[in-house]
Amino acid sequence: MYRRTTLSHNLLDEQRRLGGSGSFTALMTDILTACKMVAHEVNQGALVGNLGVAGSENVQGEEQKKLDVLANDIFLHMNALGGNYAGMASEELEDVHAVKGSADGRYLLLFDPLDGSSNIDINISVGSIFSILRLPDGASPNSADAFLQPGVKQVAAGYALYGSSTMLVLTTGNGVHGYTLNRDVGMFFLTHRNMTVPADTKEFAINASRMRFWEPPVRRYVDECLAGKEGPRGKDFNMRWVASMVAEVHRILVRGGVFMYPADAENKAKGGKLRLMYEANPMAFIIEQAGGMATTGTQRIMELQPTGLHQRVPVILGSRNEVERIVQYHGDKK
Ligand code: AHG
Ligand code: MN
Ligand code: MN
Repeated sequence: MYRRTTLSHNLLDEQRRLGGSGSFTALMTDILTACKMVAHEVNQGALVGNLGVAGSENVQGEEQKKLDVLANDIFLHMNALGGNYAGMASEELEDVHAVKGSADGRYLLLFDPLDGSSNIDINISVGSIFSILRLPDGASPNSADAFLQPGVKQVAAGYALYGSSTMLVLTTGNGVHGYTLNRDVGMFFLTHRNMTVPADTKEFAINASRMRFWEPPVRRYVDECLAGKEGPRGKDFNMRWVASMVAEVHRILVRGGVFMYPADAENKAKGGKLRLMYEANPMAFIIEQAGGMATTGTQRIMELQPTGLHQRVPVILGSRNEVERIVQYHGDKK
């Protein structure tokens, strides 16, 4: 273990390589601290009364769990301390959160402080997702407009997975690397170098209880998987659904697979289920950097021009050959 490199050292190496001023390294350090604090609170669970509902709703009309609120507070507080961000936007906040007194902040932070929160009370993996953008020249961090940049503009994206171990997976546009937290030392150590999504897979993830709402391309794809060896795919598939996007994406990064939360007859009017700015874009950046693909079914997610902070989009991501097939099925429909 003592021969492994740490995430902090890799960030410093990256800073030297790019000749940066150190502000990106500093802001990443704030995120790592926030993730370690959330990991601690998730881990403490019922011991300190962290489970259960908060008794409030977020801007999306979703019931907030105590840990949703706590994780959001931790992210807001820790990331404001260093003055590295000009502003933040969170799945749990209606409006953007300008960071007071950070005249030098050149970056914007967007985050889902706790993803998969329906899993908190049952001790199944949850996570935090983040995306970092530059503050455009002349833009005000007090306005949502500054944040409405397509995913291709992301400077970095990552997630923390609070699972059987706590991991931090990060891309700065130079591949994807995974780090595991040593709680006693308080540091993330490099354990998963150059994570890559295998192009082929025999595993898919979708909430099958929504089957009656699915559109023909998704129905066709899943039907063909379910038909197994005897069907047109000529092989048996396995299915998973954790209901925690962080955990699903992590599985796909480690052993391949496809994750789908498509537009369907029930969610179409809202745009889909998952949020473009806090979930779809950062995960699309990570998956693409690992050699996979991320699409709505008809468009590359990272090229979508956002129209609202809390915009929802269909998400289909993972192993390249499978995602290409699903895109093709969407084309065949026309
Ligand atoms: P969040 O906990 O941040 O609201 O996100 C939950 C998301 C995502 O993580 C997961 O894939 C999906 O919602 C689960 O949806 P279902 O409840 O339909 O399974
Ligand atoms: Mn989420
Ligand atoms: Mn959330």
